[in-house]
Amino acid sequence: MKKITINTIIKYRNENKKITALTAYDYSTAKYADQAGVDIILVGDSLAMVALGYETTHAVTVDEMLHHSKAVVRGTQNALVVADMPFMSYQIDKKTAIENAGRFIKEAGVSAIKIEGGSKFIVDIISHCTSIGIPVLGHLGFTPQYLHTLGGYNIQGKTLEATQELFEQAKALEQAGAFAIVLEMVPEEVSKYITEKINIPTIGIGAGRYCSGQILVTDDILGKYSDFTPKFARKYTNLSDIMVEAFENYKNDVESMSFPTESEIFKLSEGEKNRLKDNGLITNK
Ligand code: KIV
Repeated sequence: MKKITINTIIKYRNENKKITALTAYDYSTAKYADQAGVDIILVGDSLAMVALGYETTHAVTVDEMLHHSKAVVRGTQNALVVADMPFMSYQIDKKTAIENAGRFIKEAGVSAIKIEGGSKFIVDIISHCTSIGIPVLGHLGFTPQYLHTLGGYNIQGKTLEATQELFEQAKALEQAGAFAIVLEMVPEEVSKYITEKINIPTIGIGAGRYCSGQILVTDDILGKYSDFTPKFARKYTNLSDIMVEAFENYKNDVESMSFPTESEIFKLSEGEKNRLKDNGLITNK
């Protein structure tokens, strides 16, 4: 399989081939998503909640995101790895934003970054990144870093005016050079309208069937993150049950001494065993 680049993603959109994207926060998850042929692997800041147990995405730092991004890059051969810029890593000023964005490319080795929002300030930051060779995936609709401003986990773009504003922001992101835009939690009619009217791919999450592609949080589709599962996250398996069962079985096996068995241990050679006996280190018991 060939390495996926931002050109591949744009080509897929132009050929009406759906783009597939999933999150990963560690080496082995990235490796399996990559093996499955997923096009984009996002090191989402959702890792703050899903992998680190915070209540929102706000707490995760650039250094933590870099740490996970490096692991994901090591596990990925073909997919396009995109790292989320965490809260307050690009909101202070242009200089800090560019420095932090550059660290993801330089230190973690990802191929693109994701930035949430569509205000003038954010569009300007995106424009700067793309002009210096840092590809940007935009993110509009419900943007978790704006949770407190949005007043909760609410569907966005529910009115004509809100749809028009979202469309204007999507256009501005396109003009700023974003190679694609994540559209999160917007009505299907709205994402369809935006997808048809802009010239870059849209990647939906809770945004219906007509986006250029779909993204979901891997721990949701695996049934591993059980604190909250959104309506749009299809569960393909129930890893949390599978994990608890495996851990219980292990605990029972250890307690009942049915683990480890002969095949799961190392033994001395007969010669060395006899020498240990001769020196009183072990007995015949
Ligand atoms: O952080 C994340 O996982 C995301 C996706 C839900 C798009 O931003």
